[in-house]
Amino acid sequence: MKTVYIKTWGCQMNEYDSSMITNLLENKYNYKISHIPEKSDILILNTCSIREKAQEKVFHQLGRWKKIKNKNPNIIIAVGGCVATQEGQEIFKRANYVNIIFGPQTLHKLPKMIQGIKKSDDSIIDISFPKLEKFKNIFYNKQKGYTASVSIMEGCNKYCSFCVVPYTRGQEISRPCDDILFEISLLAENGIREINLLGQNVNAYQGPTFNKKICYFSELLRLVSEIDGIDRIRFTTSNPLEFTDDIIDVYTDTPKLVSFLHLPLQSGSDKILKLMKRSYTTQEYENIIHKLINARPNIQISSDFIVGFPGESQEDFQKTIDFIKKINFDMSFSFIYSHRPGTPASEMIDDTKYNEKKKRLLILQNTINRQTMIWSQKMLGSIQSILVEGVSTKNIMELSGRTENNRIVTFKGSPKMIGKFILLKITEAHTHTLKGQIIE
Ligand code: SAH
Ligand code: F3S
Repeated sequence: MKTVYIKTWGCQMNEYDSSMITNLLENKYNYKISHIPEKSDILILNTCSIREKAQEKVFHQLGRWKKIKNKNPNIIIAVGGCVATQEGQEIFKRANYVNIIFGPQTLHKLPKMIQGIKKSDDSIIDISFPKLEKFKNIFYNKQKGYTASVSIMEGCNKYCSFCVVPYTRGQEISRPCDDILFEISLLAENGIREINLLGQNVNAYQGPTFNKKICYFSELLRLVSEIDGIDRIRFTTSNPLEFTDDIIDVYTDTPKLVSFLHLPLQSGSDKILKLMKRSYTTQEYENIIHKLINARPNIQISSDFIVGFPGESQEDFQKTIDFIKKINFDMSFSFIYSHRPGTPASEMIDDTKYNEKKKRLLILQNTINRQTMIWSQKMLGSIQSILVEGVSTKNIMELSGRTENNRIVTFKGSPKMIGKFILLKITEAHTHTLKGQIIE
C-alpha cells in the first residue's frame, strides 16, 4: 500500500480541496495517509499565492523535500493549488525534482497523474479549469470532527485590482443546489453538527436545481437549515457587493444562522476602494451593517483589511481607522498590500515606505484588538451556546468548544458532551478565548 503525505497552506478553500484529495486517495485508490514525509511514497504540497510570502514559502518547502528525494529517488513530489496555476511550468524549471503540477480544478486527476509517473524525473502538468469536474468525481467529502466545510461555489469574477484569485482559481461557478444538500445530509448523518458554506463570494451563489430553476444564496441557507442534525450554519467569504436584502432577511427567520458575519471591507477610504475595484462605497457597507443589526441586534462583524495599498495616504489610512471604530468590528484579518504579478494594482505607483506600512498595520491591529477585548468582556456573565469540540489543547482536564462568534471557550465538563451543543455561563474573558461554567 502506497503512503501519501499532504501539506496544505492558504485559505479554507485549500483545506477543503486537500480533504477531497485525502478522501479520493484513501477511499477510491487505497492509499494510506502518512504524517511523516520521510516515510511517504508521495509528497503533495497544496499551495497559496495570495501574498508574496505565501509563495516564497513554497520553494523553501520544496527545497526541504528535495533532500528527502535525494535519499529516495522513487518519491513522487506533486505541487497543487494557486502557486501551481500561477507559475505552471516555471515550477519544473526552478525545482526540476517536482513530478506533478495540478491546479485547484484538476485535483481529481491526481491519482491518474501519479500512476503516469514511472521514473524519478518524469513530469506531468494539468492546471486547466474543467468546470466543477472535481465534484463529479468526489461526490461526498467526508470530514472529521463536528464542524465541516462544504464548498458551494468555485472561482471568482470580481477581479479586485490587487487579487490573484480570479486568475488562479478560475471563473465563478456555483455547484448544483441538490448536490450541496446531499453532501450536507451525509455529513449530518456522520455526526457533523455545524456547517461552514465556502466560496470566494458565497452571497453571489446561483446554483441550478433539479427542476432547472436557480437557487439563490438566501434560499440555500434556508434549505440547509432544514437538514436534521445541522444546528449551526456559517459562511465564508461574502462580499459587500451583492449582499442583497433577501440574504439579510434570512437573519430574521433562521436562528441556525450564526449572529456573526465575516464581511471583508479592505479599506475605509472610498478613494482606495475605487482603486481596489471593490465596487462598493463605505456608505453602502455601512447600510448593510445597519440592516443586519435591525435583523439581528446582537450580530458581530469581522473583516479583512489591506494597508499600504498603492496611493493610500495617511488621510486614507485614518479613514480606515475611523471606520473601524464606527462599525465597531469584532475581529479582523489584516495584511500589508502585497504586489501580485499580473494584477492591475501591480502597475500602480506605490511610493509608501515599507516601514510606514508596517506602522499602519500595527496601529490597525491594535485598534481592532482593543475592540475584540471589549466585545469579549461584554460576554462576561452571559449564557452562550457552545459546540463542544473535544479536550482542551491547553489543559487536558478541560473541554473546549466555540461560541457563535467563534471564540474558544474552555470549561470543566464530561467527555459525553463532546460533539453536542451545551449552554455555558461565561466566567472569564480574554481577547480571543473565554472560560465558562456549565449551567444546570
Ligand atoms: N473573496 C474575499 C477575499 C479572498 S482573499 C473578498 O471578497 O474579500 C482573502 C483576503 O486576502 C482578502 O480579503 C484581502 O484582505 C487579502 N488579500 C488578497 N490579495 C491581497 C494582496 N495582494 N495583498 C494583501 N492582501 C491581500
Ligand atoms: Fe479576490 Fe476580490 Fe475575488 S479579493 S477573491 S477578486 S472578490
